[in-house]
Amino acid sequence: MKGSIKKKGSPFDGSKVWMDGKFVDYENASIPVNSHSLHYGLGAFEGIRCYETKGKGSVIFRLDEHIDRLFNSCHILQIPISYEKKEIKDAIIETVKINKFKECYIRPIVFIGDGSGLGIFIKNYDTKVAISAWYWGTYLGEEALKNGIRAKVSSYARFHVNTFMGMSKSTGQYINSILAKKEAVNAGYDEAIMLDTAGFVCEASGENIFVYSGGEIKTPPLSSVLPGITRNSVIEVMEKEMGLKIKEERVTRDELYIAGEVFLTGTAAEVTPVREIDDRKIGIGKAGNIALELQKAFFNIVKGGNKKYEKWLTYVR
Ligand SMILES: Cc1ncc(COP(=O)(O)O)c(C=O)c1O
Repeated sequence: MKGSIKKKGSPFDGSKVWMDGKFVDYENASIPVNSHSLHYGLGAFEGIRCYETKGKGSVIFRLDEHIDRLFNSCHILQIPISYEKKEIKDAIIETVKINKFKECYIRPIVFIGDGSGLGIFIKNYDTKVAISAWYWGTYLGEEALKNGIRAKVSSYARFHVNTFMGMSKSTGQYINSILAKKEAVNAGYDEAIMLDTAGFVCEASGENIFVYSGGEIKTPPLSSVLPGITRNSVIEVMEKEMGLKIKEERVTRDELYIAGEVFLTGTAAEVTPVREIDDRKIGIGKAGNIALELQKAFFNIVKGGNKKYEKWLTYVR
């Protein structure tokens, strides 16, 4: 058979999934084929990382902020959720514990089952919540973290601010990211950088973007990008620990080309330097010093090495 469709087995087999209050084996954590979310993409999710500390067990990075964003997403999308934040928080911690992970990626998802029918308009929301977790190493690879990636400005525009409600991390809107990422990878690049419908730089397919030029760091404003939790974290770290001033303002495509450094941030990609965009070297064409210094500070914080940032860590006990 041509293509890469896997018939049996999945990288998640053997794990336990929290499904509306109960743990089930991954293999049995299935959803009905007429789930409304499967057909129309209405759902909200989070991507969260758990890291191993030196001698103090595992920690989940900025768990409260991820839960806040999940609930905000549901509020924006008008998906009623019958759990309190604390219940979801406890369920996430339990999911890490039951799977005995020291480090993992955690994926809570809120979606609509088949009890709502398949009309576009839903009156009675059959809301479901599931939490799965798995080991996921560096998203773009070790090499990417060390030496930087090659990116391509996408031919696909990021959705307009009044299209999908970009403050929500909703499932369906990722079609836009998938198209851009596929185009970039098929053309031999590692990642796609997306422009908004007015032609300004927004973000990458699954990361926020930062640009260093002339002694200052710029990142596109929240009005055009997902409010990244890593974005928020690195802004604080760069300002407080590295003495840098961050400006949240529009960035043009050619600003990227002549920047001293460009880097991406995200839960999956962490802090990834960009060494080339559209076949133009960025700075000296290697991972930049600011990105690498920030990466080091970031990894130290997420792994519990900086007392000042304990406030961002939830211990898995
Ligand atoms: C489109 C997009 N932008 C930015 C981010 C980074 O957000 P965070 O740092 O909260 O993972 C993500 C990842 O969730 C994303 O999918």
